[in-house]
Amino acid sequence: MLLSIPNLLSSEELDTIVTPLKPEDFIDGKKTAGWAAKQVKQNTQLSTKAEYAQDIKEKIKVTLKDNLTFQSAVKPKAIHSILISRYEAGMSYGAHVDNALMSGDSLRADVSLTLFLNSPSDYEGGELVIEEVSQNRLIKLEAGSVIIYPSSTLHRINPVKSGVRLVAVAWVQSLVRDPAKREILFDLDQARRSIFAKDGKNTEFNWITKSYTNLLRRWTD
Ligand code: NI
Repeated sequence: MLLSIPNLLSSEELDTIVTPLKPEDFIDGKKTAGWAAKQVKQNTQLSTKAEYAQDIKEKIKVTLKDNLTFQSAVKPKAIHSILISRYEAGMSYGAHVDNALMSGDSLRADVSLTLFLNSPSDYEGGELVIEEVSQNRLIKLEAGSVIIYPSSTLHRINPVKSGVRLVAVAWVQSLVRDPAKREILFDLDQARRSIFAKDGKNTEFNWITKSYTNLLRRWTD
C-alpha cells in the first residue's frame, strides 16, 4: 500500500526544520548506502555532526508519532534512521531496494517514507519512482507532505534537472511485518472510525472493532 499524508507538517513547522539547514553541512550520501546501492546513489545528506541535526530528526519523529493516519497505516514499533537528503542539479539515486536491517542490524525496515521539505516548483525532475510489476508510480508531493511505501519495493529518484530537492527519509520497524496484513488493519480501522463518526458506538462499530483488535493481537510481533 502506498499512502500519502498531505500537510503532515504545517508551514510553520516546516520552517523550523528547513531554516537551520546549511548546504555546507551536507556530506556525500554514499556513506549510508549498502554496498550495491552505493553505486547508484548520488546525493548529499545532512551530517550527524551538524549540532541542529538531532533536534530536526526528533521533531520529524514526534510529528509522525502524533499523526493518527500514520499510526493507523504503519503501526510503528520504531521510527529509525532518519536522514535529510539534498539533491542538486545532476544528482539522482538509481533503482535499489532499501536494506532490510539497519542500525547495526538491530532494527528492521518494513516501511519507508519520504517527507517533502520544499515545494515541487523549486526543482525540475527529482520524482520518487516506485517500480511495480505493471507500472511505475511517480511521486512528487507538496512541501510538508509525506509518502509511505513498503521498504520491499524497488524504487529510485529521477535525476534533478535544475533547482534543489530537499526531503527527509526514514524507515520504520512496524509491529506488523506483513504489508498485506497492515493494509487489512488500516482498512478495518478506517471503516470503524467512519461508522463511529456517523453513528457513534453502535453494534457494527463493536463488531468491526472486535475483529480489528483481535487481528492486531494475532499479527503483532
Ligand atoms: Ni531507498
